[in-house]
Amino acid sequence: MNQDALRELLGFYRDLGVKELYAPQSLPAPPLPGKTTIAAMPKEPPPLLPVLPSLAPEGDTMERIREDIGDCTRCRLHQGRNKIVFGSGNEKSPLVFVGEGPGADEDAQGLPFVGRAGQLLTQMIEGTAGKEGIPIKRSDVYICNVVKCRPPENRTPEPDEMQTCGQFLFRQLLVIQPMAICALGSTAAKALLGTRDGVMKLRGKWHRWREIPVMVTYHPSYLLRPYNQNAKREAWEDLKKVLHQVYD
Ligand code: URA
Repeated sequence: MNQDALRELLGFYRDLGVKELYAPQSLPAPPLPGKTTIAAMPKEPPPLLPVLPSLAPEGDTMERIREDIGDCTRCRLHQGRNKIVFGSGNEKSPLVFVGEGPGADEDAQGLPFVGRAGQLLTQMIEGTAGKEGIPIKRSDVYICNVVKCRPPENRTPEPDEMQTCGQFLFRQLLVIQPMAICALGSTAAKALLGTRDGVMKLRGKWHRWREIPVMVTYHPSYLLRPYNQNAKREAWEDLKKVLHQVYD
């Protein structure tokens, strides 16, 4: 990576609110799933990714992240929240779903995706897995959000709120080290991939957050709108790819 690219990368982390960088990790880049054929293999070995600064303290744990979040007042979202929604599910899961932020039901219960969108997400995970012969339930995966407090009126999180809270999402992902991440909607895609591209452009293909493959798909709330039924079919396709990538 040249200096300009490195400067851009560090700027990206700074924009995400990352204030501390920990001991470096060397990250070789494995091939993206389903992409590499022998014929398409480059003659030269793929370059190693740069030595990326770690986003987490050494020996980080979910307990430590929870403790560091504490009774957070780092951004304005704390003012209207009832409960911090840290995440739920299997903390050792090979698959993590990342949503945008808690809604009213999640804020009341302190758990992610427990409202209508959450019910659809559960159906999507368990229905697709069942049809594909993959024996997993929702409780086998890990589910969390970019921001951990409910934005007022369920508005989209502001960039500074995503920056402030994003550091905790990144630490969760680094602790879990899943085999794949499924980004639900454009806020999660933006936080993980640093792109302004929309879901329609990003979905269905593999991307990467650090070395971890990322599949972007539609947010379940979007799929609940009756005029987005075509997107539902596409989301099931995306989910199939993710599940086979992780569980085959
Ligand atoms: N929408 C999200 O993005 N996350 C939740 O937890 C619930 C709804």
